[in-house]
Amino acid sequence: MSSRTVQFFDTTLRDGEQSPGVNLNVEEKVEIALQLEKLGIQVIEAGFAASSAGDREAVRRVGEAVHTPIVVSLARAVDVDIDAAWDALKTATNPGVHIFLATSPIHRQYKLNMTKEEILNQVEAAVRYAKRFFPHVEFSPEDGGRTELDFLCQVAERVIEAGADVLNIPDTVGYLSPQEYGNIFRHLKSHVNGIEKVKLSAHCHDDLGMATANTLAAIEAGVEQVEGTINGIGERAGNAALEEVAMALATRSTYYGVKTNLQLAEIARTSRIVSKMTGMFVPGNKAVVGANAFAHESGIHQDGMLKHASTYEIMRPETVGQADTRLVLGKHSGRHAFRDKLVQLGYAFNDQQINHLFHRFKELTDRKKLIEDDDLVSLVEERIGDEEE
Ligand code: KIV
Ligand code: ZN
Repeated sequence: MSSRTVQFFDTTLRDGEQSPGVNLNVEEKVEIALQLEKLGIQVIEAGFAASSAGDREAVRRVGEAVHTPIVVSLARAVDVDIDAAWDALKTATNPGVHIFLATSPIHRQYKLNMTKEEILNQVEAAVRYAKRFFPHVEFSPEDGGRTELDFLCQVAERVIEAGADVLNIPDTVGYLSPQEYGNIFRHLKSHVNGIEKVKLSAHCHDDLGMATANTLAAIEAGVEQVEGTINGIGERAGNAALEEVAMALATRSTYYGVKTNLQLAEIARTSRIVSKMTGMFVPGNKAVVGANAFAHESGIHQDGMLKHASTYEIMRPETVGQADTRLVLGKHSGRHAFRDKLVQLGYAFNDQQINHLFHRFKELTDRKKLIEDDDLVSLVEERIGDEEE
């Protein structure tokens, strides 16, 4: 099995903060960044220094607060943005900049009104300028996923010549299929002079619900860095959820043959902190970090789980720092899980008593969706009361 390692670039504090309604202050950004460092993230995008004085301060404070990850600021391909990024990060332990300029025909025509030649000259100049200050320069052709492949190759060659360290290809509008996205990286690898000098990076959005699948397809095509956010927050439908990518690589390690340097047991805590600070609720059925990700309700599943966890769980909750597996009692639950729950609550009954209580429990599930421990205790205490009369 190959021992290739994929680097994780977290943009919760930049693309994630672009989620409608989310606004993180300096202290919140620092707290999240410190947790991302604990999680083992290698690159943290702390914000967009040129966008506001507050964000510049947040980028500066994150750059000073964390010591292992590279901290980058986003910057348009213009000197004034690169200067703002450097001003914010010159005191950082590991400073970097992430420069972008759109390249797709739609963006060239409607947004930028620029020719291909103008774009090539601007990206080359911006990367060259940034290299005067920053040891780490990443370039992204925005809407790279909808850019003509031959033009994307030209852009790649120009930024590589100018000294870029990372070339990220964003599927900015979450439009591509996994196969199409992976093929872009295969094409770049076989058509761009000097491609081996840069790290290739994937950045996917979730407009069609394919951000994680696309990111994994890019890994199969050989990228060395993946970008995304915690809980998948971000513009519109969000970004690739890094916890999903990490757990796909860990759970299917023999298939992907790729390592990460993440501390997987920090995933749940990171998810909770991001949810609390951003005010973005994590749905119960969210993969890996949702409250129901390790909960089982139906009798058949619960019976399987009581016999062996591998029957219905492909990863263990403790691996990602989630509380234990939960067998949730509801109308689909069976006698086996019901008895097990009563034992956990400290009750021991014979088969006949269990049969009677189970019948009353099923009646209750027709009236009440969620059965809490207190409901079971009342049910049992009523029964004990009946017996005593
Ligand atoms: O999705 C995108 O294109 C971006 C760029 C700024 C890299 O977030
Ligand atoms: Zn993005």
